[in-house]
Amino acid sequence: MIVCSCNVLSDRDVRETVTARSDRPSVASVFRSMGCEAKCGRCVRSIVAIVDQHSAARLDECGGNSDCDSCRADGLAA
Ligand code: FES
Repeated sequence: MIVCSCNVLSDRDVRETVTARSDRPSVASVFRSMGCEAKCGRCVRSIVAIVDQHSAARLDECGGNSDCDSCRADGLAA
């Protein structure tokens, strides 16, 4: 399904981009990773939802024993 009609980006394109990253990217960062930028902004909520879904799924994978990137980042920030 196309989520960004201005840049012709599908939800699959966005998911693949987000999955390839180890951080929780901003929408602007997602666009930059895909070699484009936001134009009208109508897709922002959809992209945020995809990023949120990906982040929630990654948290589910973490056992809380400092093995994931998120736990390591939290440890470095503390
Ligand atoms: S629909 Fe994505 S910038 Fe317009």
